[in-house]
Amino acid sequence: MGGTVDDRAGRSGQSYQRPSGFQSLDDALHLSRQEMLDNHRRYGNSGLVQLIGLVGYDRLFVRAEGVRVWDEEGTEYLDFLGGYGALNLGHNHPRVLAAWDKVAQWPNLLQATVSPITSALLRDLALLAPGDLQHSFLCNSGAEAVEGALKLARLATGHQRILYCQGGFHGKTMGALSVTGRPAYQRPFAPLVPLCEAVPFGEVQALEQALAQGEPAAAFIVEPIQGEGGVVIPPTGYLAQARELCHRYGALLIVDEIQTGFGRTGTMFACEAEQVVPDVLCLSKSLGGGVVPIGAFMTTERLWNQAFGGIERCRIHTSTFGGNTRAAASALAALEAIVEEDLPTQAREKGEYFLGRLQELAREFPLIREVRGRGLLIGIEFVSDTGIFGKVSGGAANHLAQEYLASLVAAELLQHHHVITAYTLNNPNVIRLEPPLVVSREELDRVVEALRQTLSRHKGMAGFALSAAGQAVGRWAKQATQSLWKK
Ligand SMILES: Cc1ncc(COP(=O)(O)O)c(C=O)c1O
Repeated sequence: MGGTVDDRAGRSGQSYQRPSGFQSLDDALHLSRQEMLDNHRRYGNSGLVQLIGLVGYDRLFVRAEGVRVWDEEGTEYLDFLGGYGALNLGHNHPRVLAAWDKVAQWPNLLQATVSPITSALLRDLALLAPGDLQHSFLCNSGAEAVEGALKLARLATGHQRILYCQGGFHGKTMGALSVTGRPAYQRPFAPLVPLCEAVPFGEVQALEQALAQGEPAAAFIVEPIQGEGGVVIPPTGYLAQARELCHRYGALLIVDEIQTGFGRTGTMFACEAEQVVPDVLCLSKSLGGGVVPIGAFMTTERLWNQAFGGIERCRIHTSTFGGNTRAAASALAALEAIVEEDLPTQAREKGEYFLGRLQELAREFPLIREVRGRGLLIGIEFVSDTGIFGKVSGGAANHLAQEYLASLVAAELLQHHHVITAYTLNNPNVIRLEPPLVVSREELDRVVEALRQTLSRHKGMAGFALSAAGQAVGRWAKQATQSLWKK
């Protein structure tokens, strides 16, 4: 077992010694499930381990390929969570893994210089991106891409105000959180970055009003389809009208395609469905082929020069690992595979089929309020009847029930059908179905059938509340303090 704080050795001596209980990679590869959970509980995010335990996700997964993962006992699961959109190519795509071997001898980090591998990635991104988006800054995550985009907007326009959408999700670092439209995530960290203002998603008039009032806005940041907001599709024409309004009022349009990008919604980028070319495009997730963390923000030559042009400004925004060789090589291989396997078409065709089959379920089961989506970014929203949870848990669980209803459905799908799903972060009443785009029809059918059986087993939300997972949530809710969960 891992050492405790008291076991730490060699800190004050002359030579540094391996602390007792230190675990190597080889040790880690052979940890039991219990040892793994203990490590997380004692040294990591203990609450999260508790939460995933409640819904049965505290398993030990040891292998993954494409849409499938296997646990230590060899049980096979279908991954319909798809790394929150980071696994458009599926797990461990051979072409992406091979990219690592090809650059094994190359320096991975040599920031004082530039690399041919990174240079090719910058070029390919420019070729794939819509319109005249040409310059990219490479970073390591979605939130970082958003941070950079916001900074670019302020630098390039000289203005400070940023408009963002209620229900939108752009990450949880301070800047990205300041434009993430969920008060429950924002409030504990106030004051956030000043001059960020929320507008309702999908409402052109409200956007115009906000742009017209007060001091000029540097940017409006928006997702073409809100992923974590619960797979919310705005009215047709919204993005194109937002584009026009931003032009008119001199604000930059920042489109966040971190989740919708690289084929997910049936086009390479979701903004292409309305022929919109943003001023700034944020990318991450599937750019790394599901293997490496990488992000990027892209902009036009003119805006790049305005913000970062010239020797004086070229180091005003930097990242130690941004554009490292292995990440860039993986991204190059991922982009090649995404294009060659024509993931956008795969997503469009399979998405239409899957959505149709799920909509049949919605007609069959009143528990489903709505099924919606585009391509293979699909959400199932459930009716929220939390009254029964109050009874199960003695009245304390209403809030938690609302927060975890879709999780209960996800728990049932996992336990009885070995299908991995999850709720959307800003709307816990929605289950996301976001499988790798290489998913087969047979796998889509299996999930439809799993949902049908799950919904048939429980005639209403009461059934879920009384299920094992529901009761566990209820018991936990009794202990949770009110203030901790207050919205
Ligand atoms: C649209 C969108 N933007 C930004 C992010 C943040 O990305 P990351 O978790 O890599 O910081 C996410 C993550 O889910 C996202 O869906």
